[in-house]
Amino acid sequence: MAVNRGLEDVIAAESSICKVDGEKGHLIYRGYDIDDLAEHSTYEEVVYLLWFGRLPVKEELDKLHKELGANRKLPEDVVKAMRMWPKESVPMEVLRTATSMLSMYDPDANENDRAANVRKATRLTAQMPTIVAYWDCIRNGREVVDPKPNHSTAASFLYLLHSGKEPDEVAVKSLDMALILHAEHELNASTFAARVAAGTLSDMHSAVTAAIGALKGPLHGGANQEVIKMLLEIKELNNVEPYIKKMFADRKKLMGFGHRVYKVQDPRAFHLRKMSEALGKRANETKWYEMSARVEQLAKEEKKLNCNVDFYSASVYHMLGIPSDLFTPIFAISRIAGWAAHILEQLSDNRLIRPEAEYTGEINLKYVPIDKREELVSAKN
Ligand code: SDX
Repeated sequence: MAVNRGLEDVIAAESSICKVDGEKGHLIYRGYDIDDLAEHSTYEEVVYLLWFGRLPVKEELDKLHKELGANRKLPEDVVKAMRMWPKESVPMEVLRTATSMLSMYDPDANENDRAANVRKATRLTAQMPTIVAYWDCIRNGREVVDPKPNHSTAASFLYLLHSGKEPDEVAVKSLDMALILHAEHELNASTFAARVAAGTLSDMHSAVTAAIGALKGPLHGGANQEVIKMLLEIKELNNVEPYIKKMFADRKKLMGFGHRVYKVQDPRAFHLRKMSEALGKRANETKWYEMSARVEQLAKEEKKLNCNVDFYSASVYHMLGIPSDLFTPIFAISRIAGWAAHILEQLSDNRLIRPEAEYTGEINLKYVPIDKREELVSAKN
């Protein structure tokens, strides 16, 4: 039986949430093209769309916005615990740990009906951005301020990250679009991890914690932080070509490029590239965009590689003044929308997810008492 390494090309579920067309480079959330949503929607409207399967009417969106706003505060004990953690803790491990801890303070923690899970999804979507913003304040000795209930998710994150400084509208709009672009992507590794955990009838917090752990890896969400690290190492535009050519000669993977499903450009990169250029021009500092564009050109010419969502998001977040080790946590505070949608869908028609393995080990070995194993080991070597 042929094994599809990494489950490549394996259809593991039916889903009505998202379609990733790898051949044509299209991304569809509940029937709407990502280009349409990126241009016209908001992150909170996309959260509603992903969870409930259709765009909300005004009062529905207002209700979700109000519920998110009412749940951005963290339980005091969680903030207290965060203050005790080592300051050099990696933000993704802080997010993973604090998210897991939230279950102990969630009134619906071990309820698994749809209504309870929607309430938990709403609380997690509201609280996770607060965890990330508070951690940057705590680790840098800045004060943490209370969330403002009427802020959008993007505005609240930037407001809390900067200890109460009102964010400018361009930054809010850019981050809001980035959150839309990262919100959902079918059965990517972290979403699949969430579905496997939900499929055992465990709980929402356990499934989301599993997803955060998967997203942390540089082959998945961790790539955007590696991209900015590379750009900072390259420093200037004229260093790009020798640096990239050496990477290829050393057969190193270029972070932010390639994709398991997209065979052409990742449609999300189109919007993030535009945003990177616009933010660069606005700040009169286009070098990160220009360097990125040069890397992209070389990757295409030399290795026929297309960039993915993680490539230009790096320069966008850098231009927004966000510390690089918060880039992947921002991916997570967006993708909670998709993770929750898939957890709800998994539970709506659940079957335990349990594939099999092709056994390649030995067979019919007989037990050997421990005092007789020396010769066994020496015979083997
Ligand atoms: C995300 O799945 C999703 O939907 C994920 C995501 C989402 O929204 O959830 O889209 C978000 O995770 C984007 C991907 C972020 N990761 C990176 O940018 C890390 C760098 N990318 C690669 O590691 C790789 O492209 C993967 C992990 C993304 C995909 O890997 P695959 O499908 O297992 O492909 P592969 O590693 O088997 O590579 C196939 C060939 C190889 O060449 P050969 O060795 O066969 O000659 O393509 C080459 C690879 O060497 N290749 C690359 C490359 N990606 C693939 N070579 C250099 N640099 C790269 N980035």
